Amino acid sequence: MENKRQPFFYDITLRDGNQSLKKPWQLSEKEIIFNKLLELNVQAVELGFPASSEMDFEACKYLASIAPENLVVSALARCVQSDITSAVNAIKHAGTPRIHTFLTLSPFHMKYVLNKDPMELRKSAIEAVKFASTEITKANKNGQVEFSVEHFGDCGENLDFVIDTLQEIVKAGATTINLPNTVERKRPRIFLDMVERVYNALPKDISISLHNHNDLGMATATTVEGYFSGAVQLECCLNGLGERAGNTNFYEVAVALHNSGVDVPIDLSKIYETALIVSQMSKVEIYEKTPLIGPDALAHRSGIHQDCALKTKDMEFGAYRPIHPSLIGRKDDEKIGFTSQSGKTAVFEIITKAGYPITIQEAIRLTPAIKEAAEKIGELPTRNIIDIYFREICNVQGPFKLTRFDHIGDNKFAVEFKHEDKMFSMTGEGNGPIDACMDALKQAGFERKLLHYKQLAMDEELLGSGAIAMSVIHLEGNDGSKVIGRAIHKNTAVANVKAIFNAYNLIYKA
Ligand code: KIV
Ligand code: ZN
Repeated sequence: MENKRQPFFYDITLRDGNQSLKKPWQLSEKEIIFNKLLELNVQAVELGFPASSEMDFEACKYLASIAPENLVVSALARCVQSDITSAVNAIKHAGTPRIHTFLTLSPFHMKYVLNKDPMELRKSAIEAVKFASTEITKANKNGQVEFSVEHFGDCGENLDFVIDTLQEIVKAGATTINLPNTVERKRPRIFLDMVERVYNALPKDISISLHNHNDLGMATATTVEGYFSGAVQLECCLNGLGERAGNTNFYEVAVALHNSGVDVPIDLSKIYETALIVSQMSKVEIYEKTPLIGPDALAHRSGIHQDCALKTKDMEFGAYRPIHPSLIGRKDDEKIGFTSQSGKTAVFEIITKAGYPITIQEAIRLTPAIKEAAEKIGELPTRNIIDIYFREICNVQGPFKLTRFDHIGDNKFAVEFKHEDKMFSMTGEGNGPIDACMDALKQAGFERKLLHYKQLAMDEELLGSGAIAMSVIHLEGNDGSKVIGRAIHKNTAVANVKAIFNAYNLIYKA
């Protein structure tokens, strides 16, 4: 099967999606969705079912009047003349109007629901298509007809009859044959074997369309594979709206085909924004785990996944994601959520992203305390993680406790502190508070080498308590390693001395 064909995206949000809403949309709401569909660059929009209500008739008429010339706009009609007339009247002024008429040919439905003879229904379908074709082409030279075998998925046992009927229907003027899986009951391959039989039996200029409902959760798979089985028109719904478990999800099909190397004529970057608007307007929330658009769709919580995800963060191909978020216009990165299953990489990433400085060694040191908190409450809000950061990094508990630090003249400072149970009252001398504090500690018998010192200017809001900088002191540890002490205080000298004491507590901790 050649697959150079471009898929033809036929959107049914305004009809199948709308008919299943608790509060179907009014014209103004339909117009918003219609404009979003234009931004997505769909090839066809089913505007509604004009015979269903005056409101839907008016909505179809108005949207048909503003549709771009080359956009196929269709209206649904049962195989009855009054429905077809209403549909023709609603959309005939569009550039490319299409009447979509449908009838079931499933043995079960014909017998138990319609209680009609198959040959009688075949005749009605053919007559309806002839009527629709005559009326729409009379009104508009670009008029077209689509015919749907409702419940095609249930036609396994009378498929020869269905194919014979479709050959007549094509002769009667239908140029698109839609094969709905009106209720998804079987596995995709069984359904697609039927689709392939129809595809092989009809003239090649007939467009085969799929319209899969998602009762067993396989509509996307069936539609995507259906494209490779000969279908070119894919009937999809934004956010997977639609009767019961919905219709085929538009975004999933578009992205899956894109990922399969198909030239998808959709502006994928509009997907995320559209999804949020559709959710808001339909009042159908996006479930956390919804592929691509769900809040969790690009979230990682286990340490291993977080580590690999962050290593491939900016790459188009990610370790644990099917797309780069920007492909569908998601501005959020892959979300890293901290739970008891997470690790140091997540600590590092979350704290860095929140705007606080941290090294990977510090993240390793913080991880047990953060994990302990997560074990109690589950996924930790960033605020809780930052609180632990301040407690463990900027206020390190240990054997040293600073009790006084005062400038007492020239380059002299009073430094009083406790080491375990012993009090020290020293006068430190030096070229500034850092030197003086290090001198006082040296005199008390706790000499350490200062490796580096800096002040990190930071947003006041991040630091709180009026501080605008974080003091960072690097001291030499016991094994020659570098130990980092950090502290904040609105008085820079105090912040420096506190940072020294934090580093000392890390070095001298039992
Ligand atoms: O699900 C279905 O069979 C339909 C038809 C009207 C196409 O929505
Ligand atoms: Zn449907």
